[in-house]
Amino acid sequence: MNFIVGLEDKLRKGPNNAPRLRVLITDHVDHLLLDYLRNRLGFDVDEMCDLGREGLLNRICDYDILVVRSRTLVDKEVLSRAANLKIIVRAGSGLDNVDLEEAAARGVKVVNAPEGNVYSVAELTIALMMNAARRISFAHNLVREGDWTKVRGTELYGKTLGIIGFGRIGSMVGRIAKCLGMRVLAYDIRDVSDTARLIDAVVVKDMDELLKKSDVVSLHVPLTRETYHLIGKRELWTMKRGAILVNTARGKVVDTKALLEALEEGIIGAAALDILENEPPKEEWELKLINHPRVIVTPHIGAETDEAQRRICEIVISKLEEALKGL
Ligand code: MLT
Repeated sequence: MNFIVGLEDKLRKGPNNAPRLRVLITDHVDHLLLDYLRNRLGFDVDEMCDLGREGLLNRICDYDILVVRSRTLVDKEVLSRAANLKIIVRAGSGLDNVDLEEAAARGVKVVNAPEGNVYSVAELTIALMMNAARRISFAHNLVREGDWTKVRGTELYGKTLGIIGFGRIGSMVGRIAKCLGMRVLAYDIRDVSDTARLIDAVVVKDMDELLKKSDVVSLHVPLTRETYHLIGKRELWTMKRGAILVNTARGKVVDTKALLEALEEGIIGAAALDILENEPPKEEWELKLINHPRVIVTPHIGAETDEAQRRICEIVISKLEEALKGL
């Protein structure tokens, strides 16, 4: 508390009565963060969620702090124009939209909140898995069209869920799936045997083994150079015939064109996706994928709950306080 008061004083006046820090927010964040920056710290905050790429490039030079979620790309070009930027607040988990190397080279600190969205993303993953297995959205659409056909699905009880990426979210999905009576396989490049033991999941060392054995495959890896198109044509064709693919991680982890082909050829039984390679999708084949009867798509809403957004703000606020101390 004392620190905050001291900090407010220091930043409002600054050495030689320097102006208050200027903050640009380009994606929708919880009002908690906005209130904190504006009212608690007394910063000049501009919330411009429709700024777009050109607007960001033109204006970023005026700001000390940039607050983004996954929609705003903070790449080399943006950073090269950000002469005054000191801190990037990524109000969420994934850092794939921020050029971390370039930020570090320019002395720009980056704070995020990977712990904030775990329950929300895990719950959405389970919801999508159940939706795909029981074809809930498909049946719902039929009913709306006046068609009362009994749509047949599959049970999850006793089935095998293969989780690729067994970190915070992946292991939480595994934990819930165990309660549904599913067998859980875990694959990760790190040693996850301790976490797996806790929830009685089986670690597999080879991703292909997981793909071959799983009735549902769920992805929980960050997007990196190594995970780009991790699930491509070869991997899709390695999967159990008729299996369900769930992706609540990042769109580019899956070669989505290959996924469409796999669905059309009946290799994959269904896909439930909260993210796509392009958001929103624009290519004709992407629209074809969205409209496929065995595909469910949600508009990147994994972290979109009151609880997750609030938690994320609380986490980044405490990290921001630390980062501000060092200025
Ligand atoms: C995240 O990485 O936290 C999610 O993709 C949600 C978002 O920030 O838009």
